[in-house]
Amino acid sequence: MIIAIDGPAAAGKGTLAKRLAAHFGLNYLDTGSLYRAVGVAVLRSGGDPADPPAAEAAARALDPAGLADPALRGEEAGGAASKVAAIPGVRAALLDFQRAYAARAPGAVLDGRDIGTVVCPDAPVKLFVTASLERRAERRLKELLDKGLSAIGERVLQEMKDRDARDSARSVAPLVPAADAVLLDTSEMDADAAFAAAVRIISQRRFAG
Ligand code: CDP
Ligand code: CDP
Repeated sequence: MIIAIDGPAAAGKGTLAKRLAAHFGLNYLDTGSLYRAVGVAVLRSGGDPADPPAAEAAARALDPAGLADPALRGEEAGGAASKVAAIPGVRAALLDFQRAYAARAPGAVLDGRDIGTVVCPDAPVKLFVTASLERRAERRLKELLDKGLSAIGERVLQEMKDRDARDSARSVAPLVPAADAVLLDTSEMDADAAFAAAVRIISQRRFAG
């Protein structure tokens, strides 16, 4: 018994496939994790996931023991996965593993993009699971929020720090206060308090001027 499940990102393939596998007592393979593992292996070795020789070497050296690594679930891994997935040599290198997995007793549910078309074209049951782009984006966002804002928060902080550093360090018109500028630190002010403080500074200056 082989159940092939394909469809776009966040359609709910993995969630459905896992439940079906448990329900029917079948093995389950998330084939996206193979492409993710290859993408992450290339990134970790400092290579470019879009570079065929690097990606093909990583696909041939893939260790299935590492497929549960939580680092494979992130968006960076997903992006790298879709780059290596476009390389025919990578797809060919991963095919035998997937087919061998599907052939093992008592059978399996596999989810991905090409299970029904390439990996298991003879599967007796093929589902193409999909949902609107808006719903799928909502689901991914909800997953991120459920994980906690910390990961997103850290990224926003780091991006802001990097951009400020670039703006401050450039040789043309860098970000610096003018020598005669009045510093207005809004850390502990809401927009109304900042406006009131600015009005105070301006009227003091006008009297002084
Ligand atoms: O979970 P999500 O649907 O976002 O992604 P995934 O199933 O983990 O797959 C990550 C990427 O691997 C996809 O965007 C595809 O580019 C690629 N992939 C593929 O080409 N063929 C498969 N059978 C599975 C994944
Ligand atoms: O594997 P794929 O990327 O297609 O999607 P998933 O990781 O199984 O599901 C993405 C999110 O959608 C998960 O948080 C699910 O709980 C949720 N979801 C679902 O799987 N099926 C629905 N019918 C509705 C929501």
